[in-house]
Amino acid sequence: MGAGLSLTKTQGQPEAHGSEKTMAAQLQRLHVVVVHLLLLDYLSGVHSMPDPRQREALIQLEVSMQTGGQMVLTDAEQQLDSLLFKMKQREMQGAAFPPAMHFFKARQLIRNSPIFSLLQKMPKGGALHVHDFSVVDVEWLVKNVTYRPHCYMCFTKDQSIRFIFSSQWPKPLPICSSWFLLEDLRAKTTNTTELDNSIMGNLTLFTDQDPETAYPSQDVVWDVFEQSFLALMGLVTYAPVFRDYYHQSLAQFYMDNVMYLELRALLPEVYELDGSTHDRAWTLKTYEEVTREFTAEHPDFYGAKIIFTIHRGVNVSTMTGVVEEAMKLQRNFPDIMAGFDLVGREDRGKPLWYFRDALSIPVERGVTLPFFFHAGETDREGTEVDQNLLDALLFNTSRIGHGFALTRHPVAKELSQKRGVAIEVCPISNQVMMLVNDMRNHPAAALMSENHPLVISSDDPAMFGASGLSYDFYEAFVGFGGLRSNLGSLKQLAINSIRYSSLTPKQQEKVLAMWQIRWNKFVSENAF
Ligand SMILES: *[C@@H]1O[C@H](CO)[C@@H](O)[C@H](O)[C@H]1NC(C)=O
Ligand SMILES: *[C@@H]1O[C@H](CO)[C@@H](O)[C@H](O)[C@H]1NC(C)=O
Ligand SMILES: *[C@@H]1O[C@H](CO)[C@@H](O)[C@H](O)[C@H]1NC(C)=O
Ligand SMILES: *[C@@H]1O[C@H](CO)[C@@H](O)[C@H](O)[C@H]1NC(C)=O
Ligand SMILES: *[C@@H]1O[C@H](CO)[C@@H](O)[C@H](O)[C@H]1NC(C)=O
Ligand SMILES: [Zn+2]
Repeated sequence: MGAGLSLTKTQGQPEAHGSEKTMAAQLQRLHVVVVHLLLLDYLSGVHSMPDPRQREALIQLEVSMQTGGQMVLTDAEQQLDSLLFKMKQREMQGAAFPPAMHFFKARQLIRNSPIFSLLQKMPKGGALHVHDFSVVDVEWLVKNVTYRPHCYMCFTKDQSIRFIFSSQWPKPLPICSSWFLLEDLRAKTTNTTELDNSIMGNLTLFTDQDPETAYPSQDVVWDVFEQSFLALMGLVTYAPVFRDYYHQSLAQFYMDNVMYLELRALLPEVYELDGSTHDRAWTLKTYEEVTREFTAEHPDFYGAKIIFTIHRGVNVSTMTGVVEEAMKLQRNFPDIMAGFDLVGREDRGKPLWYFRDALSIPVERGVTLPFFFHAGETDREGTEVDQNLLDALLFNTSRIGHGFALTRHPVAKELSQKRGVAIEVCPISNQVMMLVNDMRNHPAAALMSENHPLVISSDDPAMFGASGLSYDFYEAFVGFGGLRSNLGSLKQLAINSIRYSSLTPKQQEKVLAMWQIRWNKFVSENAF
């Protein structure tokens, strides 16, 4: 029997409470018994029909090893669990199984699913892998933001658009020569709905077209992703919009029953109508202020933290400067700032090892700067970029963004397990960015089957036509969780999102207590 079968709790993993502990101990004894039985059989060379009790014990052993497999459910939870089981069976028997389809085609089916409605109502804990400007649905950006005064738009040579708010007529850009005041443009347009739809189309990857035709390769989908991003930057970095957008982001997660957010944020230069700009400290302070406002309005929302991110396309000297600034921000804003990460397509950017000098500065100076590296968001096995997983762990990362390639790296996987470095699994992102087609084949299926430390998150929900966390929970629970994942799995995933957050142990206790109250309410309202 490999070491992988061990049920012993490793440090860093969420602690089981009370009866769960007893249960864990029982399971461990069962495990030992089963292993002995198997070994005895093999050693004595018995060749008979397998013992049905032994078979049942092995089945139970596997069930107990999955995410949430050691969770003891209350009577009400068990009732809700059997309801969920029936719903899932029905969903799997349907003609079109949403997790087997591309999310753009599956979205409407998911919206009609009774499991999805339950997941929306379920208190999901925290969202730990989400990016600053892909949270709020693009309809709000178009219908609210672009209708504000002083909004200019220009058409680029490559069929994209750019925006700016300005008190004066903006200067031409190299990629687009003439700006239009949107108010004038709309007045001259015969059908503004069509114009608005085309703007929306430029701000998201979501499309009604066949996704395989619209995005024939990873290169194409990443190019469009980066174009959409450039298109919306001019809107969201305008100071008044920046505040509103973040407030709206918190509202979107709050409405989806998420109570805590760790936002990966570029902290870009934010500008005013007169063209003056603010630095990163201002931006971080604004995040802190808006978070405080929001939690004052919604006391059952716990709050948010910021992971400062920089594009991995920068050169070494820029990276060095940014790491130094990150250390300073971490020192000056210890409450709101969680740490540091690199963003952008791993396959195109430089690997972590390329930046090893810059990334070693904090530890060499004895300064704390927690890392939350994206790593292993690739299917290019064996390339230099594929080493990012192991390197992220060598750099003492606190969590791993995506970790899609983890199951192909046994050493990285074991380190992640032993050190309790959670993988942030973002199913819809991985599918839209073309790493996996059918969610049942997502590598996290294997991780969930052995309770590897992981959380579910949504990466860039607005880009993918999703929102909050519920769609990704659906794909995880119904898609790669299979029929075996149950209410205990969902409960464990929610608890994981608090346990693996960058909150202090004391803060975690508080959030967990808040979450438990909402969870109990959810269970009692839905278990019938
Ligand atoms: C736009 O959003 C802001 C902030 O969320 C809100 O106060 C305002 O009423 C909205 N305006 C419209 C026209 O929807
Ligand atoms: C404007 O375009 C939309 C979308 O193409 C269409 O549904 C609508 O009927 C059009 N309205 C008018 C007044 O032509
Ligand atoms: C983006 O905007 C341009 C200019 O309005 C338009 O021609 C194009 O169709 C839009 N793209 C999408 C994907 O909607
Ligand atoms: C690195 O990039 C920055 C910003 O693009 C640039 O100003 C600088 O000259 C570059 N440094 C080197 C050594 O290439
Ligand atoms: C690793 O990171 C953790 C959390 O940020 C920190 O407490 C610890 O000191 C770090 N260890 C090293 C060797 O950098
Ligand atoms: Zn990401």
